Amino acid sequence: MQTVIEPDFAPCFDLSPLTASKRAAPPPPADYTTRGQGTESPAGGGTLRDRKEAGVAIVVRRIRPDDWRWLRDLRLASLADSPQAFGQRYEEAGLTDDRDWLATARASASGDRRAWFIAWDGDRPAGLVQGRRRPPNDCLLFSMWVAPDARRHGIGRALVQAVSDWGRSWAASRVILWVISGNDGAISFYESIGFRAQPAGPDAASGRLYGALAMERSVAQGEAYEAAK
Ligand SMILES: CC(C)(COP(=O)(O)OP(=O)(O)OC[C@H]1O[C@@H](n2cnc3c(N)ncnc32)[C@H](O)[C@@H]1OP(=O)(O)O)[C@@H](O)C(=O)NCCC(=O)NCCS
Repeated sequence: MQTVIEPDFAPCFDLSPLTASKRAAPPPPADYTTRGQGTESPAGGGTLRDRKEAGVAIVVRRIRPDDWRWLRDLRLASLADSPQAFGQRYEEAGLTDDRDWLATARASASGDRRAWFIAWDGDRPAGLVQGRRRPPNDCLLFSMWVAPDARRHGIGRALVQAVSDWGRSWAASRVILWVISGNDGAISFYESIGFRAQPAGPDAASGRLYGALAMERSVAQGEAYEAAK
């Protein structure tokens, strides 16, 4: 299976803040990998392993404004699937108005302030991640999630690399993230792709305040890691 990270040539939008509407949060989706406005069947059918063997590429692409429903559905799916992994609750995210998902998708589609990336297994979305710039040159990584049936196929690694490549485009020196202490699977994942725990410093201290571990990888290290693959 090839993993392709598409370059980003989109024009710039301003970041719009998220605001919650008053409507009730919807219940968690029963099958969170097939909601949204697109085709509901996995491309080519079969499991990801079947398609991997058939040479189907996983494509990681920066979000486009039209992808806002996928952003909403994937983010809600991640919060329903892994509530212990994230700072935001499903019920809270479920109150977000559709106009705000659209504004977020627009604001994240280009520029160097914020970027969401979606991993596509054919026409089925299989994971997402968010990058944010902390000026001048730290790239923060949030909201990392891969659909359970798509894990251990390199999609997480490709999503991290997409954020790192985006950071490199504005001269980021390192990628920083926070992972909730006890999320051993995620910690092993990040360690296996070259992230190291930050023992000291303001990011480590702010992480500890929320029961999280700060981890970082230099952008150059990420490139070296990918080159060695
Ligand atoms: C963590 C997560 C994003 C990893 O995604 P993924 O697509 O399965 O990761 P990859 O396939 O790219 O894994 C690359 C390597 O990381 C390591 N790894 C990944 N998941 C691991 C796990 N659960 N336990 C131990 N090592 C793991 C392995 O070395 C793996 O290589 P291998 O499969 O060849 O052995 C995914 O498990 C997930 O979405 N978890 C729930 C949400 C979450 O915890 N997010 C993190 C919030 S900080």
